[in-house]
Amino acid sequence: MTYSRIIGTGSALPTRLVTNHELAQTVDTSDEWITTRTGIRQRYLAEESQTTSDLALEASRQALDQAGVSVDELDLIIVATTTPDQVFPSTACLLQNKLGNKGATAFDIQAVCSGFVYALATADSFIRAGQARTALVVGAETLSRILDWQDRSTCVLFGDGAGAVVLRAGDQPGILASTLHADGSYSDILAAPGKMCGGKIVGNPFVEMDGQAVFKFAVKVLDDVARETVDKAGLALSDIDWLIPHQANLRILDSTAKKLGIPTERVVVTVDRHANTSAASIPLALDTAVRDGRIKPGDKVLLEGVGGGFTWGAVLVQM
Ligand code: UT7
Repeated sequence: MTYSRIIGTGSALPTRLVTNHELAQTVDTSDEWITTRTGIRQRYLAEESQTTSDLALEASRQALDQAGVSVDELDLIIVATTTPDQVFPSTACLLQNKLGNKGATAFDIQAVCSGFVYALATADSFIRAGQARTALVVGAETLSRILDWQDRSTCVLFGDGAGAVVLRAGDQPGILASTLHADGSYSDILAAPGKMCGGKIVGNPFVEMDGQAVFKFAVKVLDDVARETVDKAGLALSDIDWLIPHQANLRILDSTAKKLGIPTERVVVTVDRHANTSAASIPLALDTAVRDGRIKPGDKVLLEGVGGGFTWGAVLVQM
């Protein structure tokens, strides 16, 4: 039996740090409002010249380095992003070129903030089916490009960044179980509805959100999908060493952990420092906790995402 296992993690953040106090100088908001409603204190924003694939490249190099894997060994590259560098080619192909790999399967996955769990589950399926042996899976975003910086109800919530993992085939798990779901009937509660048409963007190109509807939906499905995935693996919630939910809002993280009965000290939280980096948030949090020594080899880590679409899913990993 073939399994896939994470053998390296990496992450990247832009250098430009913007605190809530700085943001409050240009947007009608306050540090107090943002921290009490979301737990966010700061975010990192890409420079104009910095692309999603640039951030993906930095995170990927770190992950490859930690894994001790050379670029030529990669036979699958998946990038989860909602903010690709261009309409096409895919960011995965642009990243492949920057890395110097030729010939690997390369494609993007668009599942907004669930993108990384979608990509990880997909790479796991490729490996278990024998279609790939060594995969690079990246979540990377420059969400700041699709925010209306005059809309205080959205712009304060997001940041830019990237996270990556290297997966390798082996005879020990690895990825223990995964679950992916979507319900397109919720497509209008979180969207960037603009369309490319005749050389122009028609409609609003910026993120629009019904915050309270998203909040309620997220808390419900993060609970459901965690239970479904742990069940599938034949384990109990008490077997989970670390919970890494999508980093959207500290209140969502806290209520998810509480409903699942997972102590808050077993939840990896980075939303305070990174804000919501969409598809990048889970691998950024994973890499943070691997590098600071909290997550150790053998630990069972439950990664779970929820985002526009609506999409949601979870991957249970044994490190
Ligand atoms: O990846 C998924 C991404 N999305 C999310 O995770 C969002 C989930 N939702 C949330 O996190 C919360 O709904 C928000 C943090 C977005 C909003 O919190 P809320 O408690 O649901 O606030 P609200 O939308 O009900 O707004 C309350 C008030 C409003 O003023 P009035 O109408 O009561 O006078 C807003 O205009 O807060 C106002 N407001 C702000 N005030 C200061 C909205 N945004 C801001 C702001 N600063 N940035």
